[in-house]
Amino acid sequence: GHSMMGGNSSGRAQRNSDTDVPLKTATTAAKRLAVPPILKPTKKSGDSVYYTLKAEAGTTTFKPGVKTKTMGYDGSYLGPTIRVRRGQTVHTKVVNQLNQRTSLHWHGALVPGKADGGPFEPIAAGKTKQTTFKVDQQAATLWYHPHAMGTTASQVYHGLAGFMLVDDQNSQKLNLPKKYGVDDFPLVVQDRTFSKAGQFDYQADYNADGTEGNTLLVNGTLNPYINVTTNQVRLRLLNGSNARTYHFTLNHGATIRQIATDGGFLNQPVKMNQIDLAPGQRAEVVVNTANATSKNVALRTNGQRVLQLRLHSKRTGSRTLPVKLNHLTPTKQLNQFGLKHQTISFSGMGRMVRINGRVYNPDRIDLTAKPHTNQIWNLTNNDSMMGGMDHPFHIHGAQFRILSVNGKRPSAAESGLMDVVNLKPGKKVRVLMSFHDRGIFVYHCHNLEHEENGMMGQVKVE
Ligand code: C2O
Ligand code: CU
Repeated sequence: GHSMMGGNSSGRAQRNSDTDVPLKTATTAAKRLAVPPILKPTKKSGDSVYYTLKAEAGTTTFKPGVKTKTMGYDGSYLGPTIRVRRGQTVHTKVVNQLNQRTSLHWHGALVPGKADGGPFEPIAAGKTKQTTFKVDQQAATLWYHPHAMGTTASQVYHGLAGFMLVDDQNSQKLNLPKKYGVDDFPLVVQDRTFSKAGQFDYQADYNADGTEGNTLLVNGTLNPYINVTTNQVRLRLLNGSNARTYHFTLNHGATIRQIATDGGFLNQPVKMNQIDLAPGQRAEVVVNTANATSKNVALRTNGQRVLQLRLHSKRTGSRTLPVKLNHLTPTKQLNQFGLKHQTISFSGMGRMVRINGRVYNPDRIDLTAKPHTNQIWNLTNNDSMMGGMDHPFHIHGAQFRILSVNGKRPSAAESGLMDVVNLKPGKKVRVLMSFHDRGIFVYHCHNLEHEENGMMGQVKVE
């Protein structure tokens, strides 16, 4: 429950870009970026693949000579990358070796409610849980993380998270950088604070409006660099932070094109000056270094360097991108007529966060829907523009399309498949929602402290 948290949090400023914990510049030497290993199946037969993941506690050396107590899957921090193909049937076994309950949620995956790993699928300490689902969605960068009530935010903070990459015929055929760890990097960006003793002290740093750290980690690496040997490099950005929003930019003449959102490819690459990612969101981008004016390009955010790109002088490979990546129906052609409307309004702060005026109740169904049936969800943040805060809306079991943002058509980069959209104070976003499978799915604020404080509801799809 929430009583484990100190009483010192209520007086703190609520979270927004003005009240973010300032990020510190790294003082340790640059280190080569850790790339999570690809998880090997324990068994394969035909289209069936079997995976086992162990949630465990351990220690991780982020700073030279300092052992930080952390949690990870099959290791001490983060987890391996699970790489699946559309059409496969995935059998997973999650072993909880922690001394507290957990769950494992496939964020962004279009799976039935019973395989979703949300708050009603907890795994008690020492127990194992098996699930099966069929991969039936487009190629995308998805992720997994715990989702049990009361332990989600602290377990993610301590390191429980990993990537699940979906491939399909389109992604295999497209001429894009796709050599994992060579020109195609998963990057989970997180902010953490190290105590004087070099530990993560979640309770001391807890903020009911979002726990932030003062130090950036990418794939668990402090002050990371990558060697860039190709003209183009693909970065699969994931905001794996509890509460901080990032605003990624590149310097020295390197350009960014966004190629995918949460749920898959955009129709065409979109040139971007900045990529904004709220907690839980992903963006796949391709960095073109052909016109870079320095051998050291930096991916930056919030005034700090996230990742150094060390450019080799002889870079090889394609300098262009395919013009067509996907064939999503353009927003203006999406049918909006005669559909059921739902209103989802976020309000409040700290421990008083609400959706449609209500706090999460696992025994209450808030909304209903039918599988493969479009609905219109009107998402609003009712906080006042003065001093309100962001609420990143996230849905389980669906990838939605944005129809409008404050009454206007979404930008090209907002026109893809999404499972998170950030609601700034006063913002209204209308989306086309369609659930893939039956079951009970939650929707919530992906500021993990808000989620834990009950900013969550549930939809029954049947
Ligand atoms: Cu990434 Cu309901 O979560
Ligand atoms: Cu929120």
